[in-house]
Amino acid sequence: MEAARSMPTVQSGARVGYGRRIAVKPQRGCEMWSKCMRLVKIRMSIQEFHQLPRHAAYKYEYLDGEAWLSPRPKTYHALLDLHPPEESADAGRVMTRQISADDWDDLAGLFSAAFRDRPPFLGLDDKKRRAAAHAILENARTGGDGPLIEQAAFIARLKHHDGPAGGIVVTLLPASDLSDWRSFHWAEPPPPDAIAHKLGRPHLTWIFVHPFAAGRGVATALLHAATRELLALGYAELASTFLLGNESSMIWHWRNGFRLAASPFSRRKSD
Ligand SMILES: CC(C)(COP(=O)(O)OP(=O)(O)OC[C@H]1O[C@@H](n2cnc3c(N)ncnc32)[C@H](O)[C@@H]1OP(=O)(O)O)[C@@H](O)C(=O)NCCC(=O)NCCS
Repeated sequence: MEAARSMPTVQSGARVGYGRRIAVKPQRGCEMWSKCMRLVKIRMSIQEFHQLPRHAAYKYEYLDGEAWLSPRPKTYHALLDLHPPEESADAGRVMTRQISADDWDDLAGLFSAAFRDRPPFLGLDDKKRRAAAHAILENARTGGDGPLIEQAAFIARLKHHDGPAGGIVVTLLPASDLSDWRSFHWAEPPPPDAIAHKLGRPHLTWIFVHPFAAGRGVATALLHAATRELLALGYAELASTFLLGNESSMIWHWRNGFRLAASPFSRRKSD
């Protein structure tokens, strides 16, 4: 995981609320999510800096009359023991099916809408966020996050909601210790039949729901659909990763039974 951190030399600024000057470091590309976060500088007094609300995904420094908000994404891993899900009360309203080749473009639009005001993509304009969504999903589809488990990649529709309501993308990572920094990369490319041989551990790489469809069980239905397929493939657990500061994601994981795994920052090892 790479945290973007570099000192800008040139600033382009724009006036925002209260007549403050805010400068955001221009970003070249953001095909990796951690590179989508941007350094923000806001001119203010030191007293105002001390009163500034903090966001967990940023580091706050005060330099030469400016607040510097530098991206400091901290991710934590979670594990879910897979069991056959019970029939949910939302089953009649939420329809899920496996993602097909034609769905990826729609999914990128949906991804962009879902993350509009969520870290790490908040602050990107619509065009950049959509481009990032395309690049990130293309990376997942083509194996950049480990082989895509196609059987467990689902798209959802919600009654009375136009267009897709949500998507889940599950990829295969090594079944190594999650507190190890290297656990998210295959040391050697996995064999093409890795999934058939139940190698590795499935990882919930992306789950996203359109804001208009949120809170109605769409993400949970997608998780259940993926769970059934993963069990059928012979897998017993699903790993996931969440970003500190993305509360809806954290709470959703917790609500759905994920347990926090030891992190690379843990000084004691536990399971
Ligand atoms: C996280 C996310 C996928 C949840 O989707 P959803 O369809 O709204 O979730 P569900 O309806 O299945 O589950 C709702 C539960 O999730 C949690 N939750 C969802 N949004 C929440 C929010 N804004 N605040 C607090 N808890 C929230 C709650 O526990 C809620 O349970 P409750 O209804 O009993 O309160 C959705 O908010 C989203 O797309 N977020 C942006 C993308 C993202 O951050 N994805 C996760 C990282 S890949």
